[in-house]
Amino acid sequence: MLLRNARIATLGGSDELIDRGAVAIRGAVIEWVGAEHDLPTDQFNGLAERDLQGKLITPGLVDCHTHIIHAGNRAREFEMRLNGASYEDIARAGGGILSTVAATRAADVDALVQAALPRIDALLSEGVTTLEIKSGYGLDRDTELNMLRAARLIGERRHVQIRTSFLGAHAIPPDYRHNADAYIDDVCIPTLKEAHAEKLVDAVDGFCEGIAFNAEQIRRVFETAASLNLPVKLHAEQLTHQGGTQLASEFAALSVDHLEYCRDDDVTAMRNAGSAAVLLPGAFYTLQEKQVPPIDCFREHGVPMAVATDCNPGSSPLTSILLCMNFACILFQLTPQEVLAGVTRNATKALGLHDIGQIQTGMRADLAVWDVEHPAELVYRIGFNPLSERIFAGESSAL
Ligand code: NIG
Ligand code: FE
Repeated sequence: MLLRNARIATLGGSDELIDRGAVAIRGAVIEWVGAEHDLPTDQFNGLAERDLQGKLITPGLVDCHTHIIHAGNRAREFEMRLNGASYEDIARAGGGILSTVAATRAADVDALVQAALPRIDALLSEGVTTLEIKSGYGLDRDTELNMLRAARLIGERRHVQIRTSFLGAHAIPPDYRHNADAYIDDVCIPTLKEAHAEKLVDAVDGFCEGIAFNAEQIRRVFETAASLNLPVKLHAEQLTHQGGTQLASEFAALSVDHLEYCRDDDVTAMRNAGSAAVLLPGAFYTLQEKQVPPIDCFREHGVPMAVATDCNPGSSPLTSILLCMNFACILFQLTPQEVLAGVTRNATKALGLHDIGQIQTGMRADLAVWDVEHPAELVYRIGFNPLSERIFAGESSAL
């Protein structure tokens, strides 16, 4: 198809919009993008033309950090936090992630898919075309594998690209309560190897935190990832500074995520490693965190900033990428342009992908068409969805 008379945010490097622009798509691929007056019309005679009447086209949005597959909910803990309990108090008392682990272990693959689909659909309805999904609510062999299988199934049931991350090192399961090292060696690492053999793993993640694993335990998981040629990413410096960022940088992590308590030397390590910073304002908001990640330092060192929902039942029960973008501006003082790059070009970097995230010749035609004039309009409204069309791999899905 040939989309004409559109405003286009290509995310190709500059923030400039193409006014009266066109995008030519053949099959799943972008064949041409530019200003209409430069369009080599005879080259695209066969394509179905569409007049977009000045609507804005952006790359399809990429939610690069989610725990969207899980069973149950944690509304009760939400109430406990409103009454003064902290996220860490609840985790130490056996709630938190472990409460979702109990619910998730009790669900089969089909139940996990069914539970996740309404949340997935909420994101797709806001223009998401690629979504990362983590395991990490199984913490045993069978359930970790089932979560990843459910993630792959979602990619078959919906027009969306799914990227999986193995997060076996997410919390210490009750059966290993006083033996985190044994959990890493006897469960986490063997399950990672099995999941990889079943082609279920695109990247390996961990939670480096006082209430989870220390850097030396995560190191063993990352060494296994490296031996399997899998890229790594890490939840680091979310609640306290634990040194996870330095470790992740040693392994040239695709991304380091959360980062509220990260320091200047962590930022330089990330820059040297080429890692993206994944900012998760939904967790910051939900936990009423006060410490903002060092945004100016990321800017100064040119560390690409991605923004994601962190959709999970505890710290970020958020299924709106548009609201997440608004949070990133209001809570972290990102500009609307930075936020748009954060859910497109930079989110793509955080997943190690190269064929999406921008509107460029040769890239896959994953696009979002919005009934707005300018990207800032996408970000500033609260709770309004101006998506007019979503195009995944060249195919338009009516809304
Ligand atoms: O990204 N930080 C660790 N993991 C999730 C929270 C998961 C949960 O609370 O269920 C996060 O915030
Ligand atoms: Fe997370």
